[in-house]
Amino acid sequence: MDLQQTLQETFTRQFNAEPTLICSPGRVNLIGEHTDYNEGFVLPAAINKAIYLAVGPRTDSQLHFVALDLNETYMGSLDAIAKTNTWADYLLGMVDQFRQAGLNVGGLNVVFGGTIPIGGGMSSSAAIENGVAVALDHLYNKDQTDRLLMVKLGQRVENHFVGVQSGIMDQFASMMGRANHVIKLDCRSLEFAYAPLNMDGVRIVLCDSRVKHALASSEYNTRRAECEAGVRMIQARYGEQIRSLRDVTMPMLDAYVREQEPLLYKRCAYVVQENERLVGAVAALDGGDLETFGQFMYGSHEGLSKQYDVSCAELDTLVDIARTVPGVLGSRMMGGGFGGCTINLVRADALDLFTQTMQEQFLAHTGVETLLYVCQIQNGTEII
Ligand code: GLA
Repeated sequence: MDLQQTLQETFTRQFNAEPTLICSPGRVNLIGEHTDYNEGFVLPAAINKAIYLAVGPRTDSQLHFVALDLNETYMGSLDAIAKTNTWADYLLGMVDQFRQAGLNVGGLNVVFGGTIPIGGGMSSSAAIENGVAVALDHLYNKDQTDRLLMVKLGQRVENHFVGVQSGIMDQFASMMGRANHVIKLDCRSLEFAYAPLNMDGVRIVLCDSRVKHALASSEYNTRRAECEAGVRMIQARYGEQIRSLRDVTMPMLDAYVREQEPLLYKRCAYVVQENERLVGAVAALDGGDLETFGQFMYGSHEGLSKQYDVSCAELDTLVDIARTVPGVLGSRMMGGGFGGCTINLVRADALDLFTQTMQEQFLAHTGVETLLYVCQIQNGTEII
C-alpha cells in the first residue's frame, strides 16, 4: 500500500472522517548557501521527496497529530500551545503563528509521513510547516491566505518557536516551487523568478553522508552572529547604508576586517564570494553552460568547507570522490551543513558509474553506506 493510501486509511480509522491530502515537498539548493540570512541570493527548487499530510477540522479546540513514521502522537489544546522540543513543534509553531498573524485557526487532526530523509538537509521541517499552513488556510481561511505570508510564518516558526535563526530559503522553495524550474530568489527584496532547468542529459543526485547534523543549530546561530559582527565592523566605517553582507564588498573586508578579525574575515568573505559565485552560476545556467555552472558548485563547497567551516569529513569525502568520476559536472554540500547530503550535477550517461563509484568508495573510506537520491523538480506545497 502506498504512503498516501496508508495516511488516508489511518486518518479515517482514527478520526472517522475523510481527510484532505496535502503534499509538501523538500528542497534542493543548487548554489547560494548561507546567503539567505545575509540578504543574498539562492537558487533552490522543490523536489519529489515530500511530506504528505492527511488533515481535517475538529469541532472542539483540540490538536491531534500523528507522526506515522515515528509511530508517535501529540495531543493538546489550541489554548495551551507550548514548546515540546519534539517534531510536534513544527506543527504547533505554525498553528501559533497563524493565530498571532490574526488568521483563523481551529481544532486540527493531522496524520503525516514522508519520503524526505530526516536530517538529510532537504528541509523536512519546512515541508511540515508549509503543509500545516496550507491545511489551516484550506480548513479555516477559505484558501485565501497569501502564500508568501505562509512562507514568512514558517520562518517565524523556526526563529521564534523552534529557536533556529534560519533564513527564508527552505520554506520559500518548498511552498513556491514549480515543476522543472529553479527559483532565482533575492532574499533581500523577496523578488523571484522561475528559470527553466533543462534536465535533458543531466541529473541532480543527492548523496547522503548519513551524518545527522547534531551541531547544526548551535553552529548555525554562531555563523549568523559572526556575519552580523562583520557587518557591524563595516558599518563603523560606512554607516547605516551597510545593512547586511549584501552591501559589503571584498575590498571593504580586506581593508577593515582582514587584519583585525581574521576569523570573521573568513566567514564574511565566504558569503560575499558565494553571492558572486551565484551570479556567475546563474549566467552560466542562462547560457546553457552546465560545465561552468558545475565549477561554481565546487567553488561553493570549497568555501563552505575551508572558510565558513560548516562541512564535515564525510561531506568532504563525498565531494572528493565525485570529482574523480567522469561526467560529474559539479558537487558540493547542501543546506546548513555538519552532515546531510551533497548535491551533484551528473550527466545522465554517467549515472551508473557515479552510483557505483560513490557507493564503493564512500564505504571504503568511511565504513558507512551512502544513499543516493535522483531528484525530480516538482511543484511546491499543494492539496492533492
Ligand atoms: C538551512 C536554513 C536555510 C539556509 C541554509 C543554508 O537549510 O534553514 O535558511 O540558511 O541552511 O543555506
